[in-house]
Amino acid sequence: MIIGIDLGTTFSLVGYVNRAGTPVLCPHLDNSENFQTASVVHVGERGCLVGDLVEQLLDEEAGLAICRFAKLSMGTDKTVFTDHQGRDYSAEAISSLVLRKLKADAESACQEAVTGAVITVPAHFNEAERRATVNAGRLADLPVLGVVEEPVAAATYFGLDAKHGEKTIFVFDIGGGTLDATVLQATPDGLYVLATEGAKNIGGKNFDEVIMGIVEDQYRSQHRVGISDDNEAMQKLRTFATRAKIELSEPGRGVISKPLILAGRQIRVTFNRAQFEEAAEPWLEASELICEKALKAAGMGWDDIDDLVLTGGSSLLPCVERKVREMSGLPKTRVRRQQPHASVAYGAAILAEQMHGDKQVAAPPLRQLVTGNELGVRVFDPQAKKAVFHALIEKNVPVPATARETLYTRSKEQKTVSIEVLQRKDEYEVAENLGKFTFGPIAEPEKNYPVEVELGYDAAGRVTIKAKDGRAGAVIEQVFDGDEEVALSDEYYRLQELVVKS
Ligand SMILES: Nc1ncnc2c1ncn2[C@@H]1O[C@H](COP(=O)(O)OP(=O)(O)OP(=O)(O)O)[C@@H](O)[C@H]1O
Ligand SMILES: [Mg+2]
Repeated sequence: MIIGIDLGTTFSLVGYVNRAGTPVLCPHLDNSENFQTASVVHVGERGCLVGDLVEQLLDEEAGLAICRFAKLSMGTDKTVFTDHQGRDYSAEAISSLVLRKLKADAESACQEAVTGAVITVPAHFNEAERRATVNAGRLADLPVLGVVEEPVAAATYFGLDAKHGEKTIFVFDIGGGTLDATVLQATPDGLYVLATEGAKNIGGKNFDEVIMGIVEDQYRSQHRVGISDDNEAMQKLRTFATRAKIELSEPGRGVISKPLILAGRQIRVTFNRAQFEEAAEPWLEASELICEKALKAAGMGWDDIDDLVLTGGSSLLPCVERKVREMSGLPKTRVRRQQPHASVAYGAAILAEQMHGDKQVAAPPLRQLVTGNELGVRVFDPQAKKAVFHALIEKNVPVPATARETLYTRSKEQKTVSIEVLQRKDEYEVAENLGKFTFGPIAEPEKNYPVEVELGYDAAGRVTIKAKDGRAGAVIEQVFDGDEEVALSDEYYRLQELVVKS
């Protein structure tokens, strides 16, 4: 069985296409009503716990050591969690525990072994983040057949009920920690992505933190002390804030007024929707900028958009929906919210089956993706006398895409050339190093010896690199692949010892 997984910042889901060709979601192993797994993990004396069990325990034990939001650290070597034995976990390792839970749910739902999975990632994820997602699968003994972009998965699902004819669709996907704004063309022939923009750190986590800030201010003014250093109090406050945010987004709910005990002191938290929305405004404005950039990159204006589709849990916030309506100026009939929690997972299931399975699905095929990041190399700028990022492939160009560039050695002593490959979201962001590879030794080195570099994105949006000796013509290929490393790593064996409970 092939599955599609939405590995979310706050919630993860798994689905597959059934024999009738319909995408379905898999419920929890022990709860057939629940299809969402909280992306939260605890490893401690009680073992390795994933999902709702952790949330329930947190209600009783606010100081429980947990890891949330691992997705926001994917592709970094940051330690996101340390367990009771002092062992450190990367975001990949934590995500692998969530994936193991989802795999078990899928196998229990279908009574069949999972043979492969497609995992979704935000469209703006760079190669390091995509690679980390694949590695998380490997650490979970889950064969990852590919990664697909979340807004593309959502649009594929929306395409299920699309009428014939051409439509330009704008997908605004705002989840727990990430935002993607994507412009697509849906045609009878399939889906074409025209442009995509996005950001980490715009999502439900930020809206929770807006409420946490309001409560912290009230706490400080009543008790003359802060709580930001108190991990237990902050964890309890986050749970309170998330629940308050969801309550406040219910129709007719304008005020939150509740008692709360933090660090042994009680306060009455009181605030209204207007206060929340005012404090959330910077995030809404940041979202608007991202939408404008996506439209501009597609060479379009709001008038060109036939359908604006809101998805992701945070699109349920009235202020998010209002902002999107206001910025677009589109009539109600052209703006809709669709399956905010599940569209990505349904789409992932469809794409997994379309690309790797043998069942017929009545969804439009994916015809074109675009690059989510600029891709380039670091070169020495003699004028500035420093190494600078030199873009070879721009953002928002159709994939596959390749670019060639000849680099030259700087002295006759230089026997090798090291090439640093980088990706960059835009000119305002620091380029991120994807890796370095060394070409050489050059048999007869001399100043200005040519090395031809070919960088590219394959049809799935993954980075490829080749380098060629400019004179001898020999090719060296660099594969961004941690295959053996992951399979043999200590981390892999250590994770295998954990029994995931949910
Ligand atoms: N009714 C609601 N009102 C406001 N926010 C909500 C509501 N329901 C869920 N959310 C928020 O939506 C977020 C979860 O959405 P979703 O499941 O789409 O995110 P995710 O897939 O985990 O994250 P991402 O896509 O960023 O990786 C959480 O922050 C949650 O608090
Ligand atoms: Mg999501």
